[in-house]
Amino acid sequence: MSIWRKKPIAAYHADMQKSELKRVLNRWGLTSLGIGAIIGGGIFTLTGIAAHDHAGPALALSFIIAGIGCLFASLCYAEFASVLPVEGSAYAYAYGTVGELFAWFIGWNLILEYMMGATTVAVAWSGYFNKLLHLFGIHIPEWLVNDPITYGGQSFNILAFLITWVITAILIKGIKEAASTNNIIVVLKVAVVLFVIFAGAFYVEPSNWTPFIPNEVKGADGTIHFGFGGVLTAATIVFFAYIGFDAVSTQAGEAINPKKDVPFAIIASLILCTLLYIAVSLVLTGMVPYNQLDLKAPVASAFSGAGITWAVYLITIAATAGLMSVMLVMMLGQTRIFLGMSKDGLLPKGLFGSLHPRFKTPYKSTLLVGFIISIVSALTPIDRISEMCSMGTLLAFAMVCIAVLILRIKQPNLDRPYKTPWIYLVAPLGAGFNLFLMSQVRINTWYAFIIWGSLGVLVYFLYSRKHSHLHPVK
Ligand code: ALA
Repeated sequence: MSIWRKKPIAAYHADMQKSELKRVLNRWGLTSLGIGAIIGGGIFTLTGIAAHDHAGPALALSFIIAGIGCLFASLCYAEFASVLPVEGSAYAYAYGTVGELFAWFIGWNLILEYMMGATTVAVAWSGYFNKLLHLFGIHIPEWLVNDPITYGGQSFNILAFLITWVITAILIKGIKEAASTNNIIVVLKVAVVLFVIFAGAFYVEPSNWTPFIPNEVKGADGTIHFGFGGVLTAATIVFFAYIGFDAVSTQAGEAINPKKDVPFAIIASLILCTLLYIAVSLVLTGMVPYNQLDLKAPVASAFSGAGITWAVYLITIAATAGLMSVMLVMMLGQTRIFLGMSKDGLLPKGLFGSLHPRFKTPYKSTLLVGFIISIVSALTPIDRISEMCSMGTLLAFAMVCIAVLILRIKQPNLDRPYKTPWIYLVAPLGAGFNLFLMSQVRINTWYAFIIWGSLGVLVYFLYSRKHSHLHPVK
């Protein structure tokens, strides 16, 4: 059955030899890309709602739970990245192991992760930038900073639209420019997160941590607040904060030494961010009673509440810049996945595979991705986009865990510069954990997800299967 055909591992190596992308990223550049993609809307905004409505002071526990699931997935991603150091990420991994339709389906879900991730962050950015403008006394009409559903009438989020085109322009110019822009932002972002932890620690009132897990309350719509169930719900929300470590694996084609450095960067960026997240959540819930945390800008408001108003400027500026680097890496990842898929014939090469003659970047697909994100982010509410993003990511993570195990069993002697430790435990736990989190997502998101998936299968059978380079009759 052709849907099970697999791309031979040798073909990946041949692709790598032919790659025209510039190899400029070392292990710290890659780690920085990971951190650039990870720290963003999750920690700067979603912590508010997660602690206020679901976990209380136990927010740190939710971060630990979501972090463990991501750690399992990252260990599996790392082994794959060392065996198949090609752009395309989980899509490419599944194509070499499980089969074409699965690979296609993963690629289709990665569109949710990367494109919807960048879209979510574009909307979050517009919120922060607007707040920054307010701090300087500039006010933009509400109908220009909201989508029509949130606004309740005709409107267009012009800030989200514009930032997407700024990032698109940087990406077309080149990977080196993108990486240096990212490095500057990452330094600022990490510095501010460390500031929050160390300066905030002086304002912690330990009594705010008790009770650590408030008693469970069931909402009218069946949502669980607090108790251990609430901590789990909060874990599904803050999962979004971890998305991005896997983006490193989409840049393998631009890494100087991908087999060693990509696995390193995936794991290093995730562990670093996990530690920062746990510390930030302890400080936040220690500074402010959880039921008084701000929902839109919890980190900045905790400091204004403590009377350190100048810190509000610092945090708002860092968050605004920080969100830009998340968009940068997400959009970069999306175009590299499309590039990988077009090289295999599953997507039209003219649109997704052609590189700019001078900049050597996939400029046509970058323009297309920029166009879609700019329009969707200007017209859609943030929660709908972010949940779709998490669904696609969770499924991709689960599939990677399964695929790495299959490859280990079927081809045990393959050269693996990095091996997932205790794979027979880590891979099933990773897959199980991520599937479990999927089961916790709202039913409406599931419907949208099923429609998106069916569309993907349709495109596969109408176009990709016949155009695949593995298809015998061409
Ligand atoms: N992890 C990224 C964020 O929180 C997607 O913005």
